[in-house]
Amino acid sequence: MQTHATHLPFAPDAPWLAPLAGYSDLPFRSLCRNYGAACAVTEMVSVKGLVFGGYGTERLLLTAPHDTPLVVQLFGAEPEIYERAMPILLERGFSHFDLNAGCSVRKVNKSGSGSALMSRPALLLKIAETMVRAAGPGKVGVKMRLGFTPGEENFIEVGRALEELGVGWLTLHPRTAKQLFGGEARWEAIGELARAVSIPVLASGDLFTAEDAARCLSVSGCAGVMFARGALTDPMIFTRLKDVLAGRESTPRTAESLAEAALTHIRLCQQLDPTPKAFRALRAFLPRYAKGFTGIRALRQALIGCRNWEELTVMAGSIAHLAADPQPLDHADLTQDCGA
Ligand SMILES: Cc1cc2nc3c(=O)[nH]c(=O)nc-3n(C[C@H](O)[C@H](O)[C@H](O)COP(=O)(O)O)c2cc1C
Repeated sequence: MQTHATHLPFAPDAPWLAPLAGYSDLPFRSLCRNYGAACAVTEMVSVKGLVFGGYGTERLLLTAPHDTPLVVQLFGAEPEIYERAMPILLERGFSHFDLNAGCSVRKVNKSGSGSALMSRPALLLKIAETMVRAAGPGKVGVKMRLGFTPGEENFIEVGRALEELGVGWLTLHPRTAKQLFGGEARWEAIGELARAVSIPVLASGDLFTAEDAARCLSVSGCAGVMFARGALTDPMIFTRLKDVLAGRESTPRTAESLAEAALTHIRLCQQLDPTPKAFRALRAFLPRYAKGFTGIRALRQALIGCRNWEELTVMAGSIAHLAADPQPLDHADLTQDCGA
């Protein structure tokens, strides 16, 4: 049985990789760890899928000895199912868990899971309590939004109650569920939560660059940050934050460094998850590295035609020759049909 590290890092210069459905798989987590991610969270895992053997659950739980510290994120709305899922995960050696109360994808919310839990705080607390009872105090975190709808922002009450029942840390994406990704993340609200509880609070939301994260830390005074969309276009963002906080000049996001990251990502995928599913996921992922450079459309087209790892490697290498596009980076494409 594999056992994961028992201590999680909470510090401004210990950035986490956020849970990212479709992206934060073992190879990408490994890449981000190479670039300084101090902790990583899996893609959200359905507790029902886990208990009833749902399609794809095994790949979501794929891990390796170096993939530590690791937090497994769970979603679902029925405490009884968590009751059954937790022993399965603990038996497999997982030790830290996160409850998804922040995802606003329609499919997830329709079942009462994700950010829909913010509108049913008693149920949210019951689920968290079930998880804490199984894993132990301090081993469970909850990732929340401000509340379900504007005007019903209950993150402070919910956060305090979660602390009370033994939750070890909170992550806040400071928008309401109804907002999806609209408007701006309210970083001051992260500070309000951090002052209201004594467990660590992690920030998530609009952290696209290391400088954004440094500003968020300074505005909110929270324990640490999680990079999500920012890591998808720049996996070196973790090292950059450490540089920025230490007052060092951060290396620029160049075509060469992104090609290097893409090539390392391919190697990690070949080593850790060389399945056709992982190959297709990576092929769709690679254009993200070329964001902010000209020729991304042609690259995307060429990647679709890649049939094997060798072809993919050649295309990834070609990122090094792209020219910078002076347009600002846009992350909206990731959130059009994903309300996470
Ligand atoms: C493609 C995508 C997938 C996501 N998947 C999850 C998920 O599985 N669980 C979760 O709690 N949040 C998920 N999120 C939300 C992120 O973890 C993060 O909270 C959100 O993107 C805000 O951070 P950012 O603005 O810095 O990207 C996802 C976001 C995106 C864009």
